[in-house]
Amino acid sequence: MGFEQYHEPAGELSAETRTFARMCANLTEEAEAIGWYEQRISLEQDPAARAIMMDSLVEEYKHFSMELEYLFRAKPRWREIARGILFQDGDIVANGTAAEAAAGGGGGHDGGPAPAGSNGPSLGIGSLKEQNR
Ligand SMILES: [Fe+2]
Repeated sequence: MGFEQYHEPAGELSAETRTFARMCANLTEEAEAIGWYEQRISLEQDPAARAIMMDSLVEEYKHFSMELEYLFRAKPRWREIARGILFQDGDIVANGTAAEAAAGGGGGHDGGPAPAGSNGPSLGIGSLKEQNR
């Protein structure tokens, strides 16, 4: 059994944070499974085997979606940003930029503003995006 979902000592993490990390790991695994089934289905010649794998693929869509919804409920700010991106027409990057700005911009912990002088939990992806323009 692997414990790779923790990047900090598990004993120092709250039960809530451990559950959140587990659900993030689950979400990653569902996304991987979706990618693997796509590859297998694209190559499989046997119709019955393809049908079974298609059924499995749809199950992974459900699992991924349920886990994503769980994480959104745990992190309202994430949910708010996602609401501005998911199921929206138009440019995905522009929608993302607008959704992040509407949620109070980058940085800060979920549900609150960034502490003064803090870059918050941001991985800096937005700033990398700006550098590549
Ligand atoms: Fe699954």
